[in-house]
Amino acid sequence: MPTGPVIFLTHTAAESGAELALTRMVTGLHRDGADVAVLATQEGPILDRLRAEGVRAEHVCTDFDSSRVVIGGSLLRLAAGVRSMIATGLTIGATARSADASAIVAESTKALLMGTVASRRARIPLIWHMHDRVTNEFFGPMLALVIRTLGAVVARAYIANSAATAETLWTRGKPVAIVYPGIRLPDPVDRLQRRPADVRICMVGRLTDWKGQDTLLEALARSRHRPHVTFVGGTHFGEESYADALAETAARLGVADRVEFTGHIDDPLPLLADADIAVHCSRVTEPFGQVIVEAMASNCAVIAADAGGPREIITSGKDGVLVDCTGDGAARRLADVLDDVIDDVDLRSRLAAAGVARSADFSIQRTCADATRVLPLHRRVGTRDVGAGV
Ligand code: GLC
Repeated sequence: MPTGPVIFLTHTAAESGAELALTRMVTGLHRDGADVAVLATQEGPILDRLRAEGVRAEHVCTDFDSSRVVIGGSLLRLAAGVRSMIATGLTIGATARSADASAIVAESTKALLMGTVASRRARIPLIWHMHDRVTNEFFGPMLALVIRTLGAVVARAYIANSAATAETLWTRGKPVAIVYPGIRLPDPVDRLQRRPADVRICMVGRLTDWKGQDTLLEALARSRHRPHVTFVGGTHFGEESYADALAETAARLGVADRVEFTGHIDDPLPLLADADIAVHCSRVTEPFGQVIVEAMASNCAVIAADAGGPREIITSGKDGVLVDCTGDGAARRLADVLDDVIDDVDLRSRLAAAGVARSADFSIQRTCADATRVLPLHRRVGTRDVGAGV
């Protein structure tokens, strides 16, 4: 039986939701004394964050360029990408073997492919940590089928970031643990809700079509009120054109003077702490939605899309309000909810207070405790390297 680290494998080291969730979980496990390491096929800020915490985080040098393997890309490029993912998987397998790793955890679908090769080579279990729902809507029918089947064949167990994510799996009776991502709970934010005319709204999320920032812009144009809105978030995976289009949409709808785009910010909590309302309005079912919990912990009244993860976090009318953000009527429905919530200062205060209480259920300690039940973790001895040659 191997007694070395559990190796978490990720194809990107960008500060996107799944990678931030991974960083928090692995850092928490490391602090608890567990032997963990992260391998990424790319250098990036996530690795820096992990290293700063003393976690072994290494970059596997290969010619694998993840940005070339994209949903809807050409078949030829896909084939070349798959070939290099297999080569990378072999390298990782050798590394895992020399480190006496006890398991590989694939953090994405690309990592699942590389992890399959790596875990077979090292003869250790592969666990699939799912941050995305494997649906036709998200991946397209062909790819969804391939990924689901691959997962069913190669994964020994699964970690899903919500029940909504788990339900998209084909598990063939293998263990599935629902491990909600934990956040670093901020110090209590003490502030009063502003009067309706002065309300400030914050929306945190990557600027990409499925997150639906445009729905909020349209809802603003329809609202009776004139709140100020701060959009926090950058573009990560070639989504600049959507970001440009958002600025144009704001101008066209005549709301540009009330909205602000900050770009990516390492720590969005101070901006949330200054907002009265936080909005989440993904048009595609959100797998979990860490920004919702961060907003609740920051004492915001939260409005979120009524699907997937948000439904597991929020009890609508109690600690937030859920609204259907799909289809043609999305902006109108969001505008109606916004107007009701902006109008009623007491309602906002009640939702925010209940949100703070609920957010305490999503501590990083709880995430680590849940993850520990499925991961074959060993205690760390000394400071061994993950292995040479990476
Ligand atoms: C992905 C999902 C997001 C979730 C995060 C953490 O980025 O899209 O909903 O919060 O992973 O697991």
